[in-house]
Amino acid sequence: MNIRNFVIIAHVDHGKSTLADRLLEVTGTVESRRMRPQYLDQLDLERERGITIKMAPVRMRYSSGGEDYILNLIDTPGHSDFAYEVSRALAAVEGAILLVDATKGIQAQTLSNYRQAKASGLEVVGAVNKIDIAAGRADQAVLDLAGLLETDPSEIFRISGKTGEGVAELLKAVIRRVPPPQKKDGGGRALIFDSLYDDHKGILAYVRVREGTFRPFENSHLMAADTDVRFKEVGYFLPQLRPAEALGPGEIGYFATGLKEPALVKIGDTVVCGSRGEALPGYREAAPVVFISFYPDQATEFDDLKRAFERLRLTDAALSFEPDANEALGRGLKVGFLGKLHFEITATRLTREFNLDFLTSFPSIAYRVMERGGSRIVSDAHDFPENPDKVFQPMIKIELLTPSQYLNPVLNLQRVFDFTVEEVKNLGEHVLLLGRMPLMELIRDFDDQLKSASAGFASFSYELAEEAESDVEKLEILVAGEVVPALTRVVFRKDIEREGRATVDRLKKLLPGQQFSQAIQARVRGRIIARETIPALKKKLGDFGKNSGDRTRKMKLWQKQKRGKEKLQQSAKVNISAEVFREILKK
Ligand code: GTP
Repeated sequence: MNIRNFVIIAHVDHGKSTLADRLLEVTGTVESRRMRPQYLDQLDLERERGITIKMAPVRMRYSSGGEDYILNLIDTPGHSDFAYEVSRALAAVEGAILLVDATKGIQAQTLSNYRQAKASGLEVVGAVNKIDIAAGRADQAVLDLAGLLETDPSEIFRISGKTGEGVAELLKAVIRRVPPPQKKDGGGRALIFDSLYDDHKGILAYVRVREGTFRPFENSHLMAADTDVRFKEVGYFLPQLRPAEALGPGEIGYFATGLKEPALVKIGDTVVCGSRGEALPGYREAAPVVFISFYPDQATEFDDLKRAFERLRLTDAALSFEPDANEALGRGLKVGFLGKLHFEITATRLTREFNLDFLTSFPSIAYRVMERGGSRIVSDAHDFPENPDKVFQPMIKIELLTPSQYLNPVLNLQRVFDFTVEEVKNLGEHVLLLGRMPLMELIRDFDDQLKSASAGFASFSYELAEEAESDVEKLEILVAGEVVPALTRVVFRKDIEREGRATVDRLKKLLPGQQFSQAIQARVRGRIIARETIPALKKKLGDFGKNSGDRTRKMKLWQKQKRGKEKLQQSAKVNISAEVFREILKK
């Protein structure tokens, strides 16, 4: 069988999509007049921001040494927030091109990608990219990459995704070194590694066929969903959908299920046909680290929001959500994300692809809270107790790689972030720091600050580690004596005064004046730590017009107004408008 299945993996921006473009050209998959940069990035958002969010499969044909080959390539995202996409792509292939940008050298994601590819049993072919602009620095990158792959430097390819130099040789090496899929007998089994909603064909399951042959209109079965299905169509990605008569063993392609119910097509599920074998290993569920609630706003209804998330989840298996409700903002969804960028991209897609208006809450993470001898997980700030016995927070194990000359500024970040270094390794020109940090620090600005401390050269990857005791407290905001639930947050004790003060100050600027004066307070453990007052709107009392009669009458009216105002003050319920929420919840 002349099939080769492989992925391109690399740290963010090292040139995966650009190399994929050249491969599409070399193999004649896309005519050069139709070629455009980052061809496989199908979302407008991906092109605009120059980042890949979704893995993208494509089937190419290529002749080499008198043989014809089918090459199934999956381009993957580079940013660590989309690592779940990468891990699923790895399970669908036998080989990987590991790319390193010669101008940047090995970076944190290079190390973690390599480890993952090895753990999945893939054959890894190393290549140093961008030699057109960094010929001088390519030698060092080649040496470093050879060191990582424990191979001879002559085995590392030097290429330019921009000019195409070295790309054909790299492709030939992939054919030579990546093993063809194993031939197995038995009934049909295929792994669903991704999915997409298609208005005409129903949900498309992206599959890697392990054994057997799948044809349209034959009986198949989705194991996890325990659902029988007859596919309307099966086919390949060119990269657009191309129907085929059948999808055979070792192939990567799609099944058009005709199903409309997103919950039925589960990523990681096994599709079987003929005799029923065991389920394939599948995937572990993505573990969300940040939770943010979404509430419909303006013309958007809750059902629109929910439907949009269900659709998005088909193309983004890392998204998870559950119903949430808020007194002020109504019904909403609490959504789990893999990181800040994951959240930003999702919010942008909701606006752009689904045309929705919504408000979002402050980000929160899951704490384990101990009180009265018991312990429970709290990821909702309102449920956080005022006086817990102990609180444990999620920690991350972080692997930070920096060129030696930026080591000091990087270490100085410890003044701002609670980041402990446990091990330092010298790797030639780079230093690798292994350490630990509260997950919450990551959600603050660690990413950006690391980039600015190292002129963009340091990088990190992380994984969730065991929890640690934490010094956090619940911060509540009260307006006119009432807690505003959507503004409740869990904050590090060291930051709580500053955060409380800042929120109170902002609210004072944002809230419209009322007939009565309004107190705005920040409260921690029942104690007010910051307070501001919005004075009552000044309506001139006693101004009843020119001919408003004698002085006694004026006095009476004045008294009446005053009493009315006091009453108003007592029953004052302040409605905080959606606009004010939007402003205050902005970063
Ligand atoms: P993510 O998927 O977001 O991680 O990015 P990527 O790894 O797919 O990188 P991409 O192909 O988008 O390239 C990143 C930037 O590097 C773009 O501006 C490319 O034009 C540029 N680039 C890629 N390959 C080369 C190359 O060989 N030479 C030069 N000079 N620039 C390159």
